[in-house]
Amino acid sequence: MGPRPVATGNREVPTMSEPRQPPSPYRIEALELGPMENFVYLISDRASGRAAVVDPAWEVDRVLALARDRGVRITDILLTHSHHDHINGVEAVLNASDAQVHLLKPEAQFWGRYLDLPTLHHGGDVIPLGETEIQVLHTPGHTPGSACYQLGQELITGDTLFVFGCGRCDLAGGDPEQMYDTLRHLAQDLPAETVIHPGHHYAEQETSTLAEQQTGNPFLHFHDRAAFVRYRMHEHDRLRHTPYRPVPAP
Ligand SMILES: [Fe+2]
Repeated sequence: MGPRPVATGNREVPTMSEPRQPPSPYRIEALELGPMENFVYLISDRASGRAAVVDPAWEVDRVLALARDRGVRITDILLTHSHHDHINGVEAVLNASDAQVHLLKPEAQFWGRYLDLPTLHHGGDVIPLGETEIQVLHTPGHTPGSACYQLGQELITGDTLFVFGCGRCDLAGGDPEQMYDTLRHLAQDLPAETVIHPGHHYAEQETSTLAEQQTGNPFLHFHDRAAFVRYRMHEHDRLRHTPYRPVPAP
């Protein structure tokens, strides 16, 4: 699959009915790589020519080639979490660049792996990439230090929120009660028009909005923590399989 431009910021030509908007300072492109349908994202800052790779894994050559094609220099690596399928290309990117690695402090502690001088963040931090500002959100549940990265009205969600699904909470460091709180915060605190960019291609469509997820994502239908925990831990994987489709709210 070729690179998929996903940023709404790519729309630089206003239509007749639309007021002229300044072009987005960044562009997000996705590559679907590896045997687990991972999405690896390249965020390019237009003004500086700097780029960040989110969760480099699998065929890193394809990511490096995309950056070369776009004429951007990879200066940063953003990790949503430390699972193998999201980090197995970190070394390869570091061998090809002088990129700075960013992850949350609680994820570094959970991971326990030596990384050469990573930048450790807390939720609420902002990572500058040229003129692009990337907000760091701490979204525990899948792992203790899972992160989502917010750029304008776009949200890179890792294995926290999938299109019509959410990350498992039964692996080491998973916590379904934290996932319940995390998903409620995302749904309540961020604009409904927010476009999500998940860590895996588990649905027919590759992106969605929070509004669409509020309606069709079964994990956002719960108002009771215990019921959510039961569904996430014991029921969901027996009832649903990829590609995930919308589930009407009860
Ligand atoms: Fe994961």
